[in-house]
Amino acid sequence: MSFYDDDLKDAPDRVDGRAKVMGKAKYIAEHKPAGMLYGYLVQSTIAKGTITAIDTAEAEKQPGVRLVVSHKNAPKLTIPERPVGARPFYPLMSADILFNAQPIAVVLADSFEEARYAASLVKITYSSSKADSDTRGMFEKALPEARVTPDRGKPLEVFATAEVKIEAEYTIPFEHHHPMELHATVAVWEGGKLTVYDKTQGTQGTAGYVAAAFGIDRTNVRVVAPFVGGAFGAALRPGPQLLIASMAAKLVGKPVKVVYSRRQLATAHGYRPASTQRIKLASDKQGKLSAIIHEAVHNTSSHEIFSEGLVGISRSLYACPNVKTSQTVARLDMQTPLWMRAPGAVSGAFALESALDELAYKLKIDPLELRIRNYAETDPESGKPFSSKELKECYRQGSEKFGWSKRKIEPRMMKDGRWLIGYGMATGTWFAGQSPASARVTFRANGTVLVESAATDIGPGTYTMGATIAAQGLGVPIERVTFALGDSELPPSPGQGGSTITSSVGTAIKEACEKLGTEFAAVDAKTDGSPFKDVAAADIVVENASIMVKGKPETKKSFADILTANNLPQLAVLHRSTVATAERSKYSIASHGAQFVEVAVDEEIGVARVRRVVQATAAGKIINPKGAHSQEIGGVVWGVGMALTEVTEVDDRYARIMNPNLAGYHVPVNADIPEIETIFVPEEDKIVNPLGAKGLGELGLVGIPAAIANAIFNATGKRLRDLPITPDKLIA
Ligand code: MOS
Repeated sequence: MSFYDDDLKDAPDRVDGRAKVMGKAKYIAEHKPAGMLYGYLVQSTIAKGTITAIDTAEAEKQPGVRLVVSHKNAPKLTIPERPVGARPFYPLMSADILFNAQPIAVVLADSFEEARYAASLVKITYSSSKADSDTRGMFEKALPEARVTPDRGKPLEVFATAEVKIEAEYTIPFEHHHPMELHATVAVWEGGKLTVYDKTQGTQGTAGYVAAAFGIDRTNVRVVAPFVGGAFGAALRPGPQLLIASMAAKLVGKPVKVVYSRRQLATAHGYRPASTQRIKLASDKQGKLSAIIHEAVHNTSSHEIFSEGLVGISRSLYACPNVKTSQTVARLDMQTPLWMRAPGAVSGAFALESALDELAYKLKIDPLELRIRNYAETDPESGKPFSSKELKECYRQGSEKFGWSKRKIEPRMMKDGRWLIGYGMATGTWFAGQSPASARVTFRANGTVLVESAATDIGPGTYTMGATIAAQGLGVPIERVTFALGDSELPPSPGQGGSTITSSVGTAIKEACEKLGTEFAAVDAKTDGSPFKDVAAADIVVENASIMVKGKPETKKSFADILTANNLPQLAVLHRSTVATAERSKYSIASHGAQFVEVAVDEEIGVARVRRVVQATAAGKIINPKGAHSQEIGGVVWGVGMALTEVTEVDDRYARIMNPNLAGYHVPVNADIPEIETIFVPEEDKIVNPLGAKGLGELGLVGIPAAIANAIFNATGKRLRDLPITPDKLIA
């Protein structure tokens, strides 16, 4: 579907859209409690060593400046005991410098400008040693303890004697999330109670983290994040500004706000780790895979181990009897990496899905045909059936809509004037997780509905998802539903990550609505002549904000009438959903998709443009077609950036990030993005969760970088294995 399609006409609009475009949605940095001071971070100029002196005299003399907080005067936090090399970074706790641009102090002033200027006057002296940020040779400097999964079959032997084989190395650089909203915290202490407005993907996880650090009870911390302006994993973990603002506020006895600048966001915070992957594929002459060997290394920091799964995709995506995977990390003197959109999967898929394309070309088999020949009807790793898997249908519908059959196997065969045209495709997959979650649903006498959950909406449309499910569940117009979220004091929710919030919180809302129907029946059953006396919950039908006994429309009673008759202002249900783990464990559960891309390459100036994308997705039930379409587009846009433009450049002499801004770090703009068509292949899944929805935010990205690189090969005959594919690599 495209945005103007009739399919989308009846899908609900984004319920928070109006507030957002009117500037009424309040983002974190817009909160301004009375008496608030502005904090500006001071960052280290070295990457490794120790602070030997901090001279704050000049800064403190400036007008408006109230205090400079550093490791010298910061309140001591309770830091979990961890072995050396596995210690999360806690700011302002010692004189140690672990990475360049490490936050080492904060200047508090009456205005932002005063704080920022004074921060430039803080003089730091260091004892410095050589830092390593070099991503070349990561296999050689990797930690010896690799994550090795036992081999399936005999991959090494089979590869050694195989008829057809390919072998290649793929590299992906550091990348930053660069959400539009900068990371920010506003911290307010009232007595022993702390309220933080914090950019986070999980209000309750953040509350627990802060409470533990300050050694206070979890009930004394409230985390509020009603609107989050993009996160993509960047706010899955508390940023240093959270503790810095909270410590500073405590010390100065006033509310404190700390907001990253764009530059600080791209230096003090996590990023997608740089990775190197080696793939070996073996097959027979018909392209039947006989061995996959996938080894990966990505960077972590000197102080902590961060690890994401790159190689898992090679164990599950294709039927292959012999598979070897291993993965390890290499320490660099950088801030610890973070999960970034489709973490692990998109990196792994870039390697595996490029390698498949290389094999297809070697065999002179169509790359789509190669994938169908190796289609996994059951999970090749566990042998379990899939709870649902309409990937073949994604291949069929996607290729048809795209016009894949017109593709030429040989590169450089299609031209449009000065442009070389290429077609490429890839497969994507993403786990379809679910966590327990709670929701409270309240029906009020005036006919409005309130849904509550501590979940956040980082942009994918969670507000709309919750309102949609409640509107459908109770049979009320969506305009009457309000979804209150983003507050740790609301009913428990997992953090928003891994594209699982709809499955988790959506299920809780759906079940809460069913329970509310039963609750109304129970209230009514107490009155004389009620038709709901002794009626089993399963026989209560909820529709049009009413209940009736199944098959007996004459028993229908509206919620409003029941409330009036019982003199009640409202009726509420708090429900916690559980995960059917035992049932789920009998199946392999994942969402899938196929991506088809057309690129045009001008070799004289080295420009590659993505001209057309068709993305076919099988992700269970689609709750909101408009939101789902938008998520799939988002995946493509991200993939275009990853494939063609995005790279965080580091000056290895100083282990310092060189392009911490949107002028030097190129995210795609409108002019880079072509027409994107999405297809949602219907998929009925009774196992994944009671909604039958699999979640698709990250799925839409997974295959895209490989599909683009494969299309560039088809256009030019150049196999580019090092992202991003910038003009220098393309120029003839
Ligand atoms: Mo997910 S890494 O929170 O986009």
